[in-house]
Amino acid sequence: MSQQSSTSSRVTRRAFVVRTLATTGALGLVPLAGSAAALGMRASAGGARQGANDSVGVGVIGAGIRGEILIRATKSIPGTRIVGVADIYDGHFARSKEILGDGIVVTRDYKQLLDHKDIQAIVIVTPDHWHKTMALEAMAAGKDVYIEKPMTHSWQEGEAIIAAAAKHRRIVQVGSQWSSMPGNARAMEILKSGRLGTITLINGGFNRNTGTGAWYYPVPPDASASTIDWPRFIGPAKARPFDAERFFRWRLYWDYSGGLPTDLFVHLITATHTLTGVTMPSKVMGIGGIYRWKDREVPDQMSAVIQYPEGFTLNLTATANNGHPQPPLTIMGTEGTLEYYANRLVLHSEPMLENYTYSTNHFPAAQKDQFAVNQSLDRATMRPKATATTKLAPPEEIKIEGGDATVPHMAAFYDSVRTRKEPFQNALMGHQCATVGHMVNISHRNGTLVKWDGKRVVG
Ligand SMILES: NC(=O)c1ccc[n+]([C@@H]2O[C@H](COP(=O)([O-])OP(=O)(O)OC[C@H]3O[C@@H](n4cnc5c(N)ncnc54)[C@H](O)[C@@H]3O)[C@@H](O)[C@H]2O)c1
Repeated sequence: MSQQSSTSSRVTRRAFVVRTLATTGALGLVPLAGSAAALGMRASAGGARQGANDSVGVGVIGAGIRGEILIRATKSIPGTRIVGVADIYDGHFARSKEILGDGIVVTRDYKQLLDHKDIQAIVIVTPDHWHKTMALEAMAAGKDVYIEKPMTHSWQEGEAIIAAAAKHRRIVQVGSQWSSMPGNARAMEILKSGRLGTITLINGGFNRNTGTGAWYYPVPPDASASTIDWPRFIGPAKARPFDAERFFRWRLYWDYSGGLPTDLFVHLITATHTLTGVTMPSKVMGIGGIYRWKDREVPDQMSAVIQYPEGFTLNLTATANNGHPQPPLTIMGTEGTLEYYANRLVLHSEPMLENYTYSTNHFPAAQKDQFAVNQSLDRATMRPKATATTKLAPPEEIKIEGGDATVPHMAAFYDSVRTRKEPFQNALMGHQCATVGHMVNISHRNGTLVKWDGKRVVG
């Protein structure tokens, strides 16, 4: 998908909800009162509008697994220039120079990038416990910010980022590329058309069956207290002695990660919010277990039940104990089902086709005859006459050009930096999607039903 088409196919969530209400009462979606206006924290981003050809100077904080992907994505986007990379493992400087050449600034102190006059945009790709601090400092230094998902390490951190974006009039875009997936525009069209009827259930999940999938990432042979700046890794978290495995496998620990709900569910929550236009659930339950990969604090399997006030439930599961492929989301309505694979959709037409065979088998014959007459049934099939011979249409497979949406998602950010247009996945949306993940964790840890009261998590 070209940058141009990605940008033009975007619709704002509010626009989608409004359009949905106007065209398909069947979806039954209504805007949430507790959104941007209720939080009272949105202001359009300020700063000078740049010309379409002005290049954006970029500083990347965190050149690890995802950092390299974002560095390569940025490099491929015209009108951007990576000025510097901050990291705290020396091997990642070597790697960044392999990709970007020796001319880039490399530093263990990310504040040097914040002070750099040639940098307008900071890309934060560190473990989650650093996101808020770095984002606030970057905005205070006048930089626009791309923050990897989850935007926050706890739900309480979100409002400060939203407030800083408003105060400093900065662009903030959060990094779940699932709001930019190639299949989104077509999926939204299908939802809007009413072909699924009233949506009451969405199932989704990710399954993995490898050590890497369970987050036991390999440790490079040169990892040591001299090649890794351990105090800078710990930062705002609890002090601990140097531990190279903890450094490279930070996702296994609550101090730095929210586990499966904020690492993986957040993508599916972002996709759900994008496709349906909802902004926050009312009730959330989570339950997880450490069933197989014991050397960890966060569950290796998690289930979540997330109920939205618009009238549907999102059920999510993730496991590191089985790799069975499943649609990331299966969107189920009273008239049909949409399997959503991000760049492929499968549409099943499944209208209600009543059939009284099973439920009248125990009637005496005369009663069954009379019931069929009373209900205008076709007596042979015990189905309503109007639909007695109706057959379901075969599933419709819809393939869409394009794969992972990281490049168009980042291109949209750089576009916002130039035009000052508010990004779709802004700080508010990042806060909302991450908060749903945090609610799953709170429910799991406390064994309680967790609610959203419009402003805060309760339970
Ligand atoms: N959008 C996606 O699909 C996606 C995919 C993977 C990861 N992510 C997100 O990206 C972030 C990073 O994940 P990862 O898999 O790349 O982890 P990683 O461990 O591979 O990389 C993290 C990097 O941050 C660096 N770092 C840590 N503390 C730092 C500090 N104080 N200053 C400078 N650098 C510091 C580390 O040295 C490391 O290079 C996470 O928030 C994760 O959720 C997003």
